[in-house]
Amino acid sequence: MQEYKRQIVEAANAIRARVDSIPDTALVLGSGSGGFAAQMESAVRIPYSEVPHMRVSTVKGHDGAFLFGAVRGRPVMVMSGRLHMYEGYEPKEITFPIRVMQELGVRTLLLTNAAGGVNTGYHEGCFMMLCDHINFTGRNPLIGPNDDSLGTRFPDMSCVYDPALRDAARAIALEKGIPLFEGVYMQFYGPSFETPAEIRMARAMGADAVGMSTVPETIVARLCGLRVFGVSCITNMAAGILDQPLNHEEVMETAERVKYTFRGLLDRVIAAM
Ligand code: HPA
Repeated sequence: MQEYKRQIVEAANAIRARVDSIPDTALVLGSGSGGFAAQMESAVRIPYSEVPHMRVSTVKGHDGAFLFGAVRGRPVMVMSGRLHMYEGYEPKEITFPIRVMQELGVRTLLLTNAAGGVNTGYHEGCFMMLCDHINFTGRNPLIGPNDDSLGTRFPDMSCVYDPALRDAARAIALEKGIPLFEGVYMQFYGPSFETPAEIRMARAMGADAVGMSTVPETIVARLCGLRVFGVSCITNMAAGILDQPLNHEEVMETAERVKYTFRGLLDRVIAAM
């Protein structure tokens, strides 16, 4: 067995040994949405540091544990806190937990993140579900020798965000009056925020929002054949759109302000699956 595969299996076995059953749905929580974890029903918590070969998140506002519990009665595996390339981790390291999910038998992955709004029709505190993405990091988590037992060398990326899940989310948002847009997410490497010129470029290239995560996880999840749903909390308008500087505190503040609405949307999307 190849080394990477061996590590995946070891991590999955360590998790299996601590939970009764593995849900078929997993959720990755982005910046500021850690509070989501508090409302989970009877959750088992497994810190990343206790899972073999897992890296730990180093970012303020990011927890670092897997949670196994239920949301609205539906079992779900949660990654409370994610890993980013800008922390110095390799794309392969930050997508390791997605491989572990596949090994565990997870079938559907929900990814959340905080993002800057590029589309001038957006506003701080609204949400955008991803209909597509642009990988602007220059990196790809699948670079390197391919283990065919884990997936094909050249995975298709023509429809990465599941249309049926998007339909469900659209209906929920409409019914609950939640401001949910649909757009293209562009990932920059970070950790510096973008310049106004980069945001003009992003818009010209077709981006509606920019952020520093999600794309590597999505690429691996699609390789693994998982259904993917992605949603951004637009915590700020991107650089140069408003006449004000950007900072991480604002990102956290906005995420905190809209957390109940965000949670309500996620809960219902999970329950609808
Ligand atoms: N740019 C990149 N990442 C982000 C932003 C942004 O404006 N806001 C939240 N995450």
